[in-house]
Amino acid sequence: MITVVGSYNVDLEVKVDRFPSPSETVFSRELLVLHGGKGSNQAVSASRLEGRVQLVAAVGDDDYGTKAISFLESENVGTRYVRVKRARTGTAIVVVDREGENMIIVDRGANALLEPADLGDSLEYTDVLLTQLEVSEEVVKKALIECVDCIRILNPAPAILRDVNLLRHADVVTPNEVEAKQLTSASTVVDAANSLLRLVRYAVVVTLGESGALVVTRRGTSKVPTLRVRAVDTTGAGDVFNSALAVMLDKGHDLEEAVKFANLAAAVSTTTVGALGPRMEEIEEYVRS
Ligand code: RIB
Repeated sequence: MITVVGSYNVDLEVKVDRFPSPSETVFSRELLVLHGGKGSNQAVSASRLEGRVQLVAAVGDDDYGTKAISFLESENVGTRYVRVKRARTGTAIVVVDREGENMIIVDRGANALLEPADLGDSLEYTDVLLTQLEVSEEVVKKALIECVDCIRILNPAPAILRDVNLLRHADVVTPNEVEAKQLTSASTVVDAANSLLRLVRYAVVVTLGESGALVVTRRGTSKVPTLRVRAVDTTGAGDVFNSALAVMLDKGHDLEEAVKFANLAAAVSTTTVGALGPRMEEIEEYVRS
């Protein structure tokens, strides 16, 4: 069983020709209201890749919260530990430009109210724990410490961390290039990854977008390339990468194989709009075409 501990957001996604500069107003070409949040994206995407998944999260006692739970259920994600808080559901303003690049601002809402006690006994039958930093560090820390017999993946996104020692409780840490540099004072991605490896138990996997991923363990460093695609929306590509990694590690694949497949799933996800990943058959179809 894969347990994802993380956020749910409603994504208000606007498409622009280019990002505005400070004090500038630009028009949007389209507005979409989508399911998002790194935790929910990772849980749904892992389920679409045939993982058995549950989500520990918090939504608000509003319409968005009710719709979030129905959506997760329709995607076969276990919702027993999705708590309803007296708050607004988390919301993300996602701006996507013509190249498919994005900028995101998150209003955490109910996500900020998820407490360590909300984990309940969710970790009891967990084989892989996948977590990020859109919920409180206390919750993430408790989950990582309590999940003793599982593979613990920490996706440090956003890279806003009060205590970097949190990484010591993770087996695999998966920042993107910007996050890896933000978490260290390193100026190159290789230096950043090596500096993070000093804290992490097993591996640092840095996602590099269209350049694939950098895998750094104490046995060495390797670059795993990815498929070239025509991206229309890169939102959530990191979430899809993490979900595929969790599914593959849960199935017993080694890290390199897991990263190869995670690269592929993430690349395919950027060819469609939104933050959610493709189903297994959609990946197979894409590779065949
Ligand atoms: O990683 C993409 C996600 O980041 C979006 O869905 C948005 O909700 C923010 O959490």
